[in-house]
Amino acid sequence: MASVKNTSKTYTLNTGDKIPAIGLGTWQSSPGEVSKAVEAALRAGYKHIDTALAYQNEKEVGEGIRASGVPRDQIWLTTKLDNTWHKRVQEGIDTSLKNLGVDYLDLYLMHWPSSTDPEDTKKHLEGWNFVDTWREMQKLVGTGKVRNIGVSNFGIKNLEILLNDPSTKIVPAVNQIELHPGNPSPKLVAYNTSKGIHSSGYSPLGSSDSPLYSNDTITEIAKAKGKTPQQILLAWGLQKGWSVLPKSVTPKRIEANFDLDWSLTDEEVAKIDAIPDRFKVCGDSWLPVKVFFGDDE
Ligand SMILES: NC(=O)c1ccc[n+]([C@@H]2O[C@H](COP(=O)([O-])OP(=O)(O)OC[C@H]3O[C@@H](n4cnc5c(N)ncnc54)[C@H](OP(=O)(O)O)[C@@H]3O)[C@@H](O)[C@H]2O)c1
Repeated sequence: MASVKNTSKTYTLNTGDKIPAIGLGTWQSSPGEVSKAVEAALRAGYKHIDTALAYQNEKEVGEGIRASGVPRDQIWLTTKLDNTWHKRVQEGIDTSLKNLGVDYLDLYLMHWPSSTDPEDTKKHLEGWNFVDTWREMQKLVGTGKVRNIGVSNFGIKNLEILLNDPSTKIVPAVNQIELHPGNPSPKLVAYNTSKGIHSSGYSPLGSSDSPLYSNDTITEIAKAKGKTPQQILLAWGLQKGWSVLPKSVTPKRIEANFDLDWSLTDEEVAKIDAIPDRFKVCGDSWLPVKVFFGDDE
């Protein structure tokens, strides 16, 4: 297994920028623990941190970055525009930059294709939709505040609406979507690739209380290779061609999740591909609009 370098691997985006393949996730990382997690990750060698305004921890993520001593220009930093901020894109990014204590983002994502009324989160914002939001996000490019813009939780149907709209001049650099063996989404990943959009995989471990840790295929491969089930899941994602965003607030797990300079055989990848059980961590029932239409989600 010589010269497998997943920990320094990057994927080249349609802008020419290179996104590091492994990023630390921070959803459900509480403000009290996330700065230590970010610091531990950056010290362990991670070069990519994923957060969001909605996670309510951007301030502490920024503190962790500064505590690590790693220079800002060596870190890929992603955050996301919250649903209730769709009509306030400039204000949204300024708020995130201020929270994080940085003067630019590497990647700014529209968190969901759902423009929600800030006055009533059960309601869709009248007279506005994600195409309007993207039109505003495109204006950020060239301001120095963000190097790349992208989307998240877009299925094929919504991507087609976005890409076919005459106001869309910039193809999203990234579509951040749920990707693990229980939700492998081959059609959506292929669609992203065909449009030059990088797929970034969230919940790569199957999120909290993951059923994947006791899946027979995963545990058998882990045992045979002397790796943990979590490492097998992450290596699979990297070999499928997407970036992976494992979340942990536990320093030992953060380190273990980055111990990935080895590879699965093609046969092992095929066995994981063939796991039949399906589950999804993030649905759309909490949103005022439907965003998943079964178009391979
Ligand atoms: N764009 C979106 O809408 C969206 C949605 C969901 C997620 N995301 C992003 O993707 C990231 C990852 O997804 P996720 O947070 O849902 O889940 P995940 O990374 O798949 O799983 C995280 C869970 O696994 C545990 N864990 C991590 N490493 C472990 C290890 N080595 N051994 C045992 N358990 C381990 C963590 O526990 P501890 O923390 O207690 O160690 C946590 O409970 C998020 O944090 C977020 O940044 C984006």
